[in-house]
Amino acid sequence: MTKETLNKTLSKARENKNDDFYTQLTDIEKELKHYKTHFKDKVVFCNCDDPRVSNFFHYFSYNFERLGIKKLITTCYKNREMDLFSKNEAEQAIYLEYNGDKSGNNVPDPEEIGIKYLKGDGDFRSKESIELLKEADIVVTNPPFSLFREYVAQLIEYEKKFLIIGSQNAFTYRDIFTLFRDNKIWTGVDNGGTKWFEVPPGYDIQTKSRIKIENGKKYFSMGSIFWFTNLDHSKRHEELILYKQYSGNEKEYPKYDNYDAIEVATYKDIPSDYDGVMGVPITFLDKYNPEQFEIVGLIAGNIKGLAGIPSATGRDGPYMNGKLKYGRILIRKRS
Ligand SMILES: C[S@@+](CC[C@H](N)C(=O)[O-])C[C@H]1O[C@@H](n2cnc3c(N)ncnc32)[C@H](O)[C@@H]1O
Repeated sequence: MTKETLNKTLSKARENKNDDFYTQLTDIEKELKHYKTHFKDKVVFCNCDDPRVSNFFHYFSYNFERLGIKKLITTCYKNREMDLFSKNEAEQAIYLEYNGDKSGNNVPDPEEIGIKYLKGDGDFRSKESIELLKEADIVVTNPPFSLFREYVAQLIEYEKKFLIIGSQNAFTYRDIFTLFRDNKIWTGVDNGGTKWFEVPPGYDIQTKSRIKIENGKKYFSMGSIFWFTNLDHSKRHEELILYKQYSGNEKEYPKYDNYDAIEVATYKDIPSDYDGVMGVPITFLDKYNPEQFEIVGLIAGNIKGLAGIPSATGRDGPYMNGKLKYGRILIRKRS
């Protein structure tokens, strides 16, 4: 999906006022299998999740014993407007605590799940939700995309471990990029491809190919969806194999007008023998191994002052032959 289409899709989602894309269990399983050891004796918090519909709650409650989780807390946001899913009919927002299977059937039975009422609406920024956050070790959810910046800032402020879903657009949000640069956040494992999210029955978009109905449920497909985390995983330490050479192929790697850096059109073309700064596509972040590369900065038409190296002309953004090019991440190989 092009960035423009993605933006249109996201703004359409905002128009639809729902931010309501419900993550499928298979997508959660595909990612979570890479973090099995992280959850032992931990308090897990899903803070944008109605336990009645959230597959995050489903996943963690059913895998509670296998992962060795200490406690699972889930809070549900009560929209002031009626939830479009209409399953959320309770007047009050609820939260739920699960301490594991007591009856020995390895299934979370209703009487084992403590449902409690929140005083407020369950907003992740509310005082009572923050109190629960303080108790948590790891936060795992798909938060509202429209509040992604604030959502991540809060996790960082409270020094929480997290594994959350977001859009590729977030890579170039100033605060989020800075966290990437400083190795405080990175992408998860199962990224980039198209994912189908369950949406409310009344949900509608122009592109019919992006909607499907299966077993009476409606799904919406979104591309460029990524997991964002600060939990370590093995993919993050995989070396990118560099096949190309700069030396002898200099013409393939022109320099920007305003930065002392070469343009590398795709991560596959990163040369193995260039020690200076290189501009690579934003999606490089999903290939980034911090032992192999250093992130120097970000250059894009709408981004000011994040290049990490001086601009010879004083202009921000990657210019070549006077023309502004696609946004780039600036990187350098570690020696
Ligand atoms: C993208 S949906 C994902 C739902 C669920 N986490 C999942 O993955 O299936 C985002 C959810 O965040 C909830 N939400 C919206 N604003 C919120 C807020 N301020 N605090 C907590 N939850 C919020 C919405 O009701 C919605 O259910």
